[in-house]
Order: sequence, then C-alpha cells, then structure tokens
Amino acid sequence: MKVTVVGAGAVGASCAEYIAIKNFASEVVILDIKEGFAEGKAMDLMQCASLNGFDTKITGVTNDYSKTADSDICVITSGIPRKPGMTREELIGINAGIVKDVSTSLLEHSPNMILIVVSNPMDTMTYLAHKATGMPKNRIIGMGGALDSARFKYRLAEALGAPISDVDGMVIGGHSDVGMVPLTSHATRNSIKVSEFLSEERLEQVAADTKVGGATLTKLLGTSAWYAPGAAVSGMVQAIACDTKKIFPCSTYLEGEYGLNDICIGVPVVLGKDGIEKIVDIPLSDAEKAHVQASAEGVTKTNGLLNL
Ligand code: LAC
Repeated sequence: MKVTVVGAGAVGASCAEYIAIKNFASEVVILDIKEGFAEGKAMDLMQCASLNGFDTKITGVTNDYSKTADSDICVITSGIPRKPGMTREELIGINAGIVKDVSTSLLEHSPNMILIVVSNPMDTMTYLAHKATGMPKNRIIGMGGALDSARFKYRLAEALGAPISDVDGMVIGGHSDVGMVPLTSHATRNSIKVSEFLSEERLEQVAADTKVGGATLTKLLGTSAWYAPGAAVSGMVQAIACDTKKIFPCSTYLEGEYGLNDICIGVPVVLGKDGIEKIVDIPLSDAEKAHVQASAEGVTKTNGLLNL
C-alpha cells in the first residue's frame, strides 16, 4: 500500500506521521515544492521509526511526481492555510490553481489512485479536482466531516462531562464556519440521545462552538490546525487501505442524494477499498434539511468563483 501526501506543511506532515504510526502502509511519499523540505520532514519522521515502532518507509521528494507513481491513495494538503480572521473561502484564488495542477499531476502517475482533498475551501477544491481530473466520483473524497465530527465529539464530551469514547456524533454539510451541520438530534452518549442530558440551549452552544472549531484554533495558533486534521485524514486513509467499511462524513459528488446535484459536500459515506462505496441516506429533521440546503447554496456560490 503506497500513499502519497502532497504538501509537507503541518497538516501533511501530521498526516504522514499518523499513517506511519498506525503501521498499515508499506510506503508514504511526501512531496513538496520547497527544495529539501519534504526530504527533511521524511528523514525526521523516519528517525521516529525505531522509537515509535513502525516499518512504513517514508520518503520525501521536491516536486518530482515520478516518485509518487502507482500510489494507491493520494492526499492533497498543499495550498495556503488561513490566518486569523480569514474564512476558508478567501483562500480560493491561490489554492484553486494549486489543487488543479497537483490533482492532474498525481493522476498522470497514479491512474488508479483514490484522491483525498484537504486544501481549503475544501468542498470547492474537491469539486475542482472532480472536474479537473474526470475521475470516477467514488475515487475523489474531501476531508472535512471527519475532522468536524471529531471537534463535535470533543465539545459534546466537554458539555456532558463524559469521556470522548462515550460520545458519538456527526457533522455533515459544507466544511465552513456557517455551512457545518452538527447533527445534534442524532448524537448519543453510549446509545442514549444527548438531549436526555443537555438542554436545548447547551446543545445549541455545542453546535456553535463546533462550527467555529477551526477558526478558534486559527486564532490561538496564528495559522490553521494540524493534529486533528492529520488524524482525520489518516483515519480515512486507514479505512480505505484496510477496507474497513467505516462510516465517515466526507465531501463527495452528489447526484440527487440529499436533494442535491452537481456539488461536493459532506454526507455520511462508507469508506473501503473502492473509496466511497456507498452514500448513506439518513433521516434529517426539517431544521437540519434547511441547514443542509443553505450550506449547499454557500458551497455552490463558492464553486461559481472557479474558472472551470
Ligand atoms: C481546519 C482546516 C483543516 O478546519 O480546514 O482546521
């Protein structure tokens, strides 16, 4: 199992590190445009191998896509991250050109790859990768919901005073401060609906804190987060590599599902060896449906800024 991670910045390096630590991939290639940067990150990570007990071989390359040849899974993290006060949508100008070039270069060398898009604005970048490469829709996946759901569970556990392992919940919709739809009505603590423990107001606060999860960290860190984004990608890569059929909310191209068309946006999917193996339809309340609809309108507006 060969995995390529494009972008040796904080998210790309965390992603490579978590994949290696989980020890399911034989090879991880990190590619970056900055001379020597990916090579340095790869060497540093390889020097963790004996300490952390993994056998995954990590190599770094400067912009040489021939070294990514025959990757099973490729991850695009490249592009500029947001600074405090910026929205993810404001990154589109620079990141669209990068994602278009990177996705087509990867495809040239790995025609059977499954592509995971992390660069922001993520839903629009996933849509762009879809249009730029013409790959089958099951093989292009946007990472947003896995991360947003992890942040939702963190906030739920905090509000409940419960361990995170006791909590389950999911965020669908667009990966943006306004577009995320935390499904509070479906969230549970050990199979018991969280509404049994938390007031409506408290749940609304949990949802609001979840939606600005990335912005809160950007303000604290001065740039966007990397540990949880890296962990979320590695979880998706593992589900595909190990064919686990785990459900994650992921950005995927919709053709009628959830009443939406010609858009990539977060919905629950089954991940396995073929990438997105199934889109899972779940019943939503009227308020959740309206929220998803409004979220989709926002993503479609951002998609309109692309030069396709
Ligand atoms: C975040 C970035 C990855 O939410 O969009 O931290």
